[in-house]
Amino acid sequence: MRYHLASFGCQMNDHDSERMKGLLEGLGYSEVGDRDAADLILFNTCTIRGSADERFLGNLGDAKRVKRERPEAIVAVGGCWAQSQKEAVFRDFPFVDIAFGPGEVSRLGELVARERIEAVGAFSFDGAFSGSLPSKRERPHQAWVQISVGCNCVCAYCIVPSVRGRERSRPLADVVAEIEALAADGVVEVTLLGQNVNSYGRDLPREERATFAELLRAVAGVAGIGRVRYTSPHPKDMKADVIAAMAECPEVCEHLHLPAQSGSTRILKAMRRTYSRERYLDLVTRLREAIPDLSLTSDIIVGFPGETEADFAETLSLVEEVGYDGVYTFLYSPRPGTEAAAELPDDVPPEVKRERIARLVETVQRVAAGRAARFVGSTREVLVEGPSRTDPTRLRGRLSQNIAVNFTGSAAPGTIARVTIERATSTTLSGRQVGAPVQADLVRS
Ligand code: SAH
Ligand code: SF4
Ligand code: F3S
Repeated sequence: MRYHLASFGCQMNDHDSERMKGLLEGLGYSEVGDRDAADLILFNTCTIRGSADERFLGNLGDAKRVKRERPEAIVAVGGCWAQSQKEAVFRDFPFVDIAFGPGEVSRLGELVARERIEAVGAFSFDGAFSGSLPSKRERPHQAWVQISVGCNCVCAYCIVPSVRGRERSRPLADVVAEIEALAADGVVEVTLLGQNVNSYGRDLPREERATFAELLRAVAGVAGIGRVRYTSPHPKDMKADVIAAMAECPEVCEHLHLPAQSGSTRILKAMRRTYSRERYLDLVTRLREAIPDLSLTSDIIVGFPGETEADFAETLSLVEEVGYDGVYTFLYSPRPGTEAAAELPDDVPPEVKRERIARLVETVQRVAAGRAARFVGSTREVLVEGPSRTDPTRLRGRLSQNIAVNFTGSAAPGTIARVTIERATSTTLSGRQVGAPVQADLVRS
């Protein structure tokens, strides 16, 4: 039996997809790259913006064609879009055999076994953390580790809380045990995942209670783990103890993805982000004082309801003031069931949104290129990931700052090479290896 899996959305989904693959391969399925050759056509979906829905629906149309040609093929749809649709999936897309939400990855095997029995009523958030499931890791030396699921924030634009449910943290001992097993399997870099990672632990029972800072220190202490990353933190929960753990643990990378969403306090308030521009900038100052070479990236939404040219100008100036190393930029998209979609008219015209995002991207590229230039001429530690995608005679890896480096050298994947940086663009660095590589967990940069 063969399966084809298409994964959409964020790292949480990519990680759930690794678990789905692990589960299916445990059931005797093997992966196939061509949907037409698959007995099981599986989608792990995203619904964060209207464009995510559209992209997925195009793919689902292709599955409909396959199903028409080969009615015995099973079509399964998991993830956030499936959760947002509930039973409407089977009504609107009758060729879909199985649907399940992001909290139900663990039930995939059972659902596949019950093939073509409609999974109505299967939408609960009671599934196990996928951390307890088998996994097919995409990269031998790097792993994602889920530390919490769901989100308790009420960001006015965001559909995630309604599809991923309330926040639930995994006990610290479980997280550490998973990472010890990963380290024994050759993993040297872990990325802790959650919708709001740094509010971790507050929901745990008293005897298991732990803070995110404690978790970071525990993970950094696992033998064999040389690099620890995490995504995404919420600025409101970025407290002094987390900053101290980052500064004091050499394994915790000098990179933070700290979504700002807007540079205007008025818009941040309407978004219910619970911080002002000033508090965000103050946090950035404290972070840079503690971790001088920190790289910062962000998510920014353009054209939120009521955004004026003056609000947008504040977003542009925030990018300059923070000095981001990179920003993911999004056009505001009203999502069904969110507060913003219900109460605030989507009143920024599409052409204004597009014009603003173009200016934002231009600013981000200029600022990021200026930031990347700081590396040129220095020799840095690069965790080697494999051959360069554009030139297989060269290698590819990442700085602690999470910036991609293509370089000439001979270090093995999973080791740390010392690379002299010769050139920089806004997104990648280029250089050559100097000296012999070292084992990743021995480096204390
Ligand atoms: N939990 C993470 C990521 C959430 S989704 C966090 O809070 O940082 C990733 C990004 O998508 C968000 O940070 C936001 O910038 C963007 N996004 C979410 N909902 C959106 C919407 N309705 N329209 C446009 N962008 C949106
Ligand atoms: Fe969505 Fe806000 Fe939660 Fe992020 S913190 S997942 S943007 S509600
Ligand atoms: Fe998309 Fe769900 Fe992630 S909506 S961004 S896959 S949490």
